[in-house]
Amino acid sequence: MSGWLVTGGAGYIGAHVVRSLRTAGERVVVLDDLSTGVRARLPEGVVCVEASVHDLPALTKALGEHSIDGVIHLAAKKAVAESVAEPIRYYRENIGGITTLLEAMADTGVTCLVYSSSAAVYGEPPWSPISEDTPAAPKSPYGETKLIGEWAIRAAAAISELSWVSLRYFNVAGASEPGLADTSANNLIPMVYAALDSGENPEVFGTDYPTPDGSCIRDYVHVADLAEAHVRAAQYTRQAQRGDVFNVGTGTGASVWEVMAAISEQIGRDVDAVASRRRAGDPPELVASVDRIAGVLGWQATRTLADMVRR
Ligand SMILES: NC(=O)c1ccc[n+]([C@@H]2O[C@H](COP(=O)([O-])OP(=O)(O)OC[C@H]3O[C@@H](n4cnc5c(N)ncnc54)[C@H](O)[C@@H]3O)[C@@H](O)[C@H]2O)c1
Repeated sequence: MSGWLVTGGAGYIGAHVVRSLRTAGERVVVLDDLSTGVRARLPEGVVCVEASVHDLPALTKALGEHSIDGVIHLAAKKAVAESVAEPIRYYRENIGGITTLLEAMADTGVTCLVYSSSAAVYGEPPWSPISEDTPAAPKSPYGETKLIGEWAIRAAAAISELSWVSLRYFNVAGASEPGLADTSANNLIPMVYAALDSGENPEVFGTDYPTPDGSCIRDYVHVADLAEAHVRAAQYTRQAQRGDVFNVGTGTGASVWEVMAAISEQIGRDVDAVASRRRAGDPPELVASVDRIAGVLGWQATRTLADMVRR
């Protein structure tokens, strides 16, 4: 029986993807260097190869030994602010990872690939919703590495039978069980809970944006919905040779004040959020157009903001 190699499968999103693949009856092997991943996130019985995606021999061995027919590539560094402070490390990590993987796939004849991309590739388009045809103009080294990864995949597919899908995630949130939550606190909801846990007031950065309540609007998507999109994408790459890019979001925005209200509702008291100055580089509104993924993969998000703020 063939199967999927999930790089970064011990991470926040990867652990959900592994579960969704198994629920869909797919065989899964994980490759993770455990730099930010946690082995305990993996369900019992999942083989975890502890190696880096920069290690070509280890990748080639994993692809060959486990009869893999496709890869879901999540392993990467993901913090936008960190990428601004350490751009070369991000270039080395993220581009080195995808290019080494493409080399290993070519060497072993593995032809299906689902790639973790990001809404960060769009930068700050002045309109919303954002379709996949919006010109990519990333504003951070992180977004640049994700876009260059897509280019590398296209270039490899042009000279091979590679069948690929790139999923551009919007704001990923929630967890399907408490042990699988995002611990990195780069995103709004974990940041609010981190503030509450240390007895501080969560901050709303910017309350004078041209939005209905003055705070920024983002498209939050539940990680379990996102994981199911990977299963659809993986199965789609297997049907024929493809090369497609899809946004993954709900198509509906929520403002920072609305997220604060949802968390207040969840914890049964007001979070007492305080208004702060705008942060540099936060566009007012980023919401996905999700028509393409609905039409082609038949996927749409089903979980709500209330599901995403649950701990
Ligand atoms: N979380 C988000 O909001 C978000 C949004 C858009 C895109 N993404 C992308 O989704 C992917 C997964 O993100 P996440 O939130 O689960 O992050 P995460 O840090 O929880 O997971 C990343 C996983 O990759 C592993 N890893 C990192 N470098 C590796 C390497 N060189 N070799 C092998 N394994 C390595 C880590 O140990 C970890 O298990 C990333 O590619 C990220 O850029 C995430």
